Amino acid sequence: MRIMVTGGAGFIGSAVCRHLVANGAERVVNVDKLTYAGNLGSLRDIADSPNYVFHHVDICDGGLINFMQAERIDAVMHLAAETHVDRSIDGPEAFVETNVVGTFRLLNAALEYWRGLPPGRRRSFRFHHISTDEVFGDLPFESGVFTEDTPYAPSSPYSASKAASDHFVRAWHETYGLPVVLSNCSNNYGPYHFPEKLIPLTILNALAEKPLLVYGNGANIRDWLYVEDHARALALVVSKGRVGESYNIGGRVERTNLAVVEAICAQLDVRRPRAKGTSFRELITFVTDRPGHDRRYAIDASKIERELGWTPRETFETGLAKTIDWYLENDWWWKPVREQRYAGERLGNSKAIVA
Ligand code: NAD
Ligand code: TYD
Repeated sequence: MRIMVTGGAGFIGSAVCRHLVANGAERVVNVDKLTYAGNLGSLRDIADSPNYVFHHVDICDGGLINFMQAERIDAVMHLAAETHVDRSIDGPEAFVETNVVGTFRLLNAALEYWRGLPPGRRRSFRFHHISTDEVFGDLPFESGVFTEDTPYAPSSPYSASKAASDHFVRAWHETYGLPVVLSNCSNNYGPYHFPEKLIPLTILNALAEKPLLVYGNGANIRDWLYVEDHARALALVVSKGRVGESYNIGGRVERTNLAVVEAICAQLDVRRPRAKGTSFRELITFVTDRPGHDRRYAIDASKIERELGWTPRETFETGLAKTIDWYLENDWWWKPVREQRYAGERLGNSKAIVA
């Protein structure tokens, strides 16, 4: 397949590009605006591959049909987005612009392109929208899981913008017949993760001997998936997913935030002990909660397991060990990010008080 990946310079998009290039895609066309979260360093391993090309493009600009035509695209995998909940609290507008308006412009470009294809290629064309489980909102601590039929109830400006984009994608299928497929995934972690999200931020703040901020009492639960497991799932969804359907993706790895931070501390204590000999746990600092903080996310992934034969390869323990090792070995990637783009200060609650 000749695949256009939007947001391919981001965390998951770059994993998707690396996976597709290594696994026989005829052509991978990465289109990315290179926001603060975009990083061509994440594509260093494939930058010179004959089946890979990068174009510096904003999906909001509307000219993407030209790239689709020039590259004879068979499928679009749409990952470009503003993605950080805390930033969406401080400044929601960029989330509406890229996630809602940008998706709308991309859908229009894809529709015009798709309508111009010959019948065979029109039948096989796919628009794959990559989304999040956060569109389903807040689960109670005690019970419940998200299925593909769970009603949407987003809590944050980020998840509201992703929910809106999911609805537009579905509408372009129902109304105009665009062959779409959607996937909603739980929290990812792994190499090349921008260090504003909990896991990479905690690793790098620990290495810098800075406080490890845990929102509220640390009891909120997220369901974690190693990014390469997600990339494999996405490759299956775009090539074998049923048109008009959505697929939940998750690894059945529910952990409290405090347990995640403590697991990172425990691994770092072994792999990179502190000079003073005490545990990194000493750096854990409970701070004012995130506004609108969803208590718990949990994915029921049985549909993708059953229909597409996908299962994750990593457990949380193996995935976290790989991730920590990667950050320990790859400061060429994260040092410039910390120095020039984001040094790790609290976001999303400017009035936050350290408890
Ligand atoms: P990321 O923030 O690491 O990367 C986003 C990428 O999109 C960046 O390279 C950025 O430059 C690019 N981008 C932003 N605005 C753009 C625009 N207007 N035009 C073109 N490119 C633009 O995000 P991520 O964590 O890799 O997430 C990718 C997708 O997966 C998002 O749609 C997100 O909602 C979804 N998702 C993420 C997670 C997660 O845990 N990270 C989980 C489920 C779903
Ligand atoms: P995050 O990585 O921002 O992902 P999301 O909000 O999309 O789930 O946060 C994961 C969880 O960790 C979430 O419950 C908020 C919490 N958190 C902290 O406790 N401290 C932090 O410094 C950050 C960034 C997040």
